[in-house]
Amino acid sequence: MDDKISAVLDAYHEKIREERENHRKSPSGGDDGGQNRFMAVGPDTGQLINILARNLNSPSILEIGTSFGYSGIWLAEAARASGGRVITMERYEHKSAYAKEMTQKAGLADHIDFWVGDAVEMIPALPDKVDFVLLDLWKDLYVPCLEAFYPKLNPGAIIVADNMLGRAAPGAIAYGKAVRAMPGITSVVLPVGSGIEVSRYEPR
Ligand SMILES: C[S@@+](CC[C@H](N)C(=O)[O-])C[C@H]1O[C@@H](n2cnc3c(N)ncnc32)[C@H](O)[C@@H]1O
Repeated sequence: MDDKISAVLDAYHEKIREERENHRKSPSGGDDGGQNRFMAVGPDTGQLINILARNLNSPSILEIGTSFGYSGIWLAEAARASGGRVITMERYEHKSAYAKEMTQKAGLADHIDFWVGDAVEMIPALPDKVDFVLLDLWKDLYVPCLEAFYPKLNPGAIIVADNMLGRAAPGAIAYGKAVRAMPGITSVVLPVGSGIEVSRYEPR
């Protein structure tokens, strides 16, 4: 990582640490429907998605759930390194705007596009098929998103879904079953961060 990206990641790490500390002290405090929370994947998952996406050749990367842009920095860096591009989707305009500002600070703005709206509705409008997906929004939308992006997967596409371990939400559990039932998918859960399901698509 270059100095600009490291500085931006350090700033996020400080905010993520504060948010987790506040959440530990008051688990139900500040519950505003997620409008002001980072809920970021954290450094281990960030590093892993960067490694996986960097390994692809000019990947078209889809992030579902931008939030304030932490995981997007890792993905945009991978896009820059591999000649790819990221589209990231978020329902809240102010979160997307903050994320955009941070990618500008990191020098990565040329490698990522920010879409605002409901991901389930926007996925069918993607201009290209995708090679890498980070699925990280409300868990009840994991299966609807899977159904929307599955027809858009290129052969060899990698999907990473977050929050699959610990007190996994019913939507995440349903997603684990649904993704494994999709033709051409192989899948494994890894104890990285909050638990990630890593899946690969290879048409039969
Ligand atoms: C867990 S956070 C994403 C964290 C982010 N990936 C990171 O690591 O920095 C989930 C985000 O999904 C957004 N979201 C929820 N429902 C959505 C929808 N239908 N379409 C797009 N974004 C949505 C929330 O507003 C929230 O910011």
